[in-house]
Amino acid sequence: MSGTPEGRTPEELHAESVRAWERNAEAWTKLSRAGYDRCRDLFNTPTFMRILPEVRGLRGLDIGCGEGHNTRLLARRGALMTALDAAPTFIRHAAEAERSEPLGIGYQVASATALPHADACFDFATSFMCLQDVADQDSAVAEAFRVLRPGGFLQFSITHPCFQTSKWGWLKDEAGRRTALTVGDYFSGDGQVTVDEWCFGAAPEELRARFPKFRVLYFKRTLGSWLNLLLAKGFVLEEFAEPTPDDATLREHPEEADAREIAYFLIVRVRKPR
Ligand SMILES: C[S@@+](CC[C@H](N)C(=O)[O-])C[C@H]1O[C@@H](n2cnc3c(N)ncnc32)[C@H](O)[C@@H]1O
Repeated sequence: MSGTPEGRTPEELHAESVRAWERNAEAWTKLSRAGYDRCRDLFNTPTFMRILPEVRGLRGLDIGCGEGHNTRLLARRGALMTALDAAPTFIRHAAEAERSEPLGIGYQVASATALPHADACFDFATSFMCLQDVADQDSAVAEAFRVLRPGGFLQFSITHPCFQTSKWGWLKDEAGRRTALTVGDYFSGDGQVTVDEWCFGAAPEELRARFPKFRVLYFKRTLGSWLNLLLAKGFVLEEFAEPTPDDATLREHPEEADAREIAYFLIVRVRKPR
């Protein structure tokens, strides 16, 4: 943890968060495309895709798409995808991938909090690991609701509000294995922003040393606060998942065992009533 920005307006925090993502984008794209975003690839995205309803032939919007990895998976399932991200470098990389292997995805630079789309023009929306990084989550959820047709769904993943609080740390045994998590600041962190600096743990040291650490502003909410936000905007809760590696994955990647102790991520699907 590297600090808590004090006394900033929501607009300043939004701008700072987007600047930080723009600075992260080059390294994030290189390292995740090299396979070092292990949580995403081994259990977070697989769980997301497993619970996703049929999307073939549906118009989908991917919010905070990064370099487009998950958007491409949705397009390969037959969805007609539009995607956006606030960081131009991510969109440049995503659009380059689209040019070299066209999947019919339209990318643009835009914020989750002000979607450049007409009301009710999508059948579904996704957001993979973005909304915890958005300063104005109220507007982001309202915007997703607005652009969905009645009966459409939003499915999103976030850092798990109960376990990834601003005060957390592992208890380890003599062999250094992570055995249990200590968690604090759950309630006092609600509505707070914290800044974290980190890199993908699986990336080799010499590769990590070539890039600055990722700097991410997290806008914390309790679980209850997330659920009440969704309900207040008019969504109906439909499904939850807490991704964790399965036995086969764990045999191949025993280093991911801590993700069986706690849930790092939460996936939620909500629906706009007809
Ligand atoms: C953890 S990355 C996830 C990227 C991608 N969805 C994935 O799963 O690989 C979070 C993404 O959210 C984007 N983001 C952050 N704030 C945003 C905002 N207000 N509007 C749109 N995108 C935003 C970042 O630029 C970044 O690409």
